[in-house]
Amino acid sequence: MLKVTLGRPAAVGAKADVLAVPVFAGPELGPGAEEAVATLDAPVAPLLEARGFKGKAGEVLALPTFGRLPAATLLLVGVGERAKVDAEALRRAAAAVVRHAAGAGKAVTTLPQALPADPAAAVRAATEGALLAAYRFDKYKKAGTDGAGPPAVLGALALVPGEAGRAALNGALAAGQARAAATNLARDLSNEPANAMHPADLADAARRLLAGKGVTVRVKDERALAKEGFGGIVGVGQGADHPPRLVELRYRPDGGSRSGAQAAGEVVLVGKGITFDSGGLSLKPADGMRTMKTDMSGAAAVIGVMSVLGDLDVKVPVTGYLASAENMPSGRATRPGDVLTMKNGRTVEVLNTDAEGRLVMADALALGAAAKPDAIVDVATLTGACMIALGNRYAGLMGNDEALVTELLEAAGDAGEPTWRLPLPPEYHKEIESDVADLKNVGDRYGGALVAGLFLQEFVDGRPWAHLDIAGPARTEADDGYLVKGSTGTAVRTLLSWLERRATG
Ligand code: BES
Ligand code: MN
Ligand code: ZN
Repeated sequence: MLKVTLGRPAAVGAKADVLAVPVFAGPELGPGAEEAVATLDAPVAPLLEARGFKGKAGEVLALPTFGRLPAATLLLVGVGERAKVDAEALRRAAAAVVRHAAGAGKAVTTLPQALPADPAAAVRAATEGALLAAYRFDKYKKAGTDGAGPPAVLGALALVPGEAGRAALNGALAAGQARAAATNLARDLSNEPANAMHPADLADAARRLLAGKGVTVRVKDERALAKEGFGGIVGVGQGADHPPRLVELRYRPDGGSRSGAQAAGEVVLVGKGITFDSGGLSLKPADGMRTMKTDMSGAAAVIGVMSVLGDLDVKVPVTGYLASAENMPSGRATRPGDVLTMKNGRTVEVLNTDAEGRLVMADALALGAAAKPDAIVDVATLTGACMIALGNRYAGLMGNDEALVTELLEAAGDAGEPTWRLPLPPEYHKEIESDVADLKNVGDRYGGALVAGLFLQEFVDGRPWAHLDIAGPARTEADDGYLVKGSTGTAVRTLLSWLERRATG
């Protein structure tokens, strides 16, 4: 486990195994790097040239110090062009430090000095990047078989102007830690194999992980769901031996009292919690099922977000819903052609049981909308079509409210989670018009992400709503920057940035 600490620049002299300094792309190396390289008293410039080291964000070059510096290794870490260094560049640079200092006891980095304009933002970003890159999901591996782990300690050094400045930097460190912990928690839940993460397990995990976090957890089991008319969740879950759940997570700022800072209007978050998506009777091909344990990444993201609202002192009342079921084929499974009656009374003809996400989400959206919140945001690994459109890095964002969509795009930019807006074209509504029911759950293959969005829109009762389709970025098949192979915990930091902006805006 990596621990990130803050210290004064004088502590560069402190003993560390690796000293990492930021290097800008361009003629000057940058603060720290010039001095450190000069101390080596070696012809470093031709070496950089020979290795093709350009100082691009995330690029690193390790130099032996031969005892001329307190650390055995000087790690030059590219942060890109000086004028363009932003939070994302520092997250990636911190991740590069962690990856290259693997196995070291202590690494020290002066990265926060690369962004002197807002040292707190720099500290937050570097902390986030380091802790996200240090993540491992190795609970099912024999101890010590998974290669060298991250360094034990990463000391980030920052210029500390005075007591006030110090408090701001400590706050930024704590915020970075909370945001990374929330993301890593979502990764843990989502990386868990489906035989250890049935809907009831997801509900139990929410209870356990949110205990003492200022969040109340209420769970509806399959009987309550059937009795209360959640036809979508029941219909998707009925083929499985492991029954569905709908989990409600309630966070109220300052423990619910209205004193203190002015509370913003209520926000509802909805996460898709399909613990395994076999496709149901509209069975997926074998290859299409291999990653379907992560079809609950939306729900995992909502749990991650809720787990740190108190720590981050978010001033917005937030209610989260996890719509959870296992989508399996069996003699009890929903058949193509079946008609379900949803929570809001609308009927849906299920023509493809693999379009199950929109069915469970619809019920949760209807429930969330009934409380008339100021905004509803849902997160779901909803469509393969969104991956076809945007690839596996970008989330698709749709919504019925311009201001809300803009806020989320800005928050995603803050978080470094690439997000692209997609339309909700009324022209395509006919795709979900059924001959026998109010709606059908599939339409044309073309524009499939938009058709799914149009379907969800039918259940938000006109409330301001936005939908994040994270089918692509929920997973990565290779380590990349601060992303670690497997589940990425995407959307957690976007939602946290959004909620923080909403509380202050
Ligand atoms: N969970 C899948 C979407 C998905 C696919 C996420 C690949 C991540 C990677 C979803 O339930 C699904 O199966 N969608 C179908 C919808 C179709 C039947 C209209 C799809 O995208 O193929
Ligand atoms: Mn499916
Ligand atoms: Zn699915």
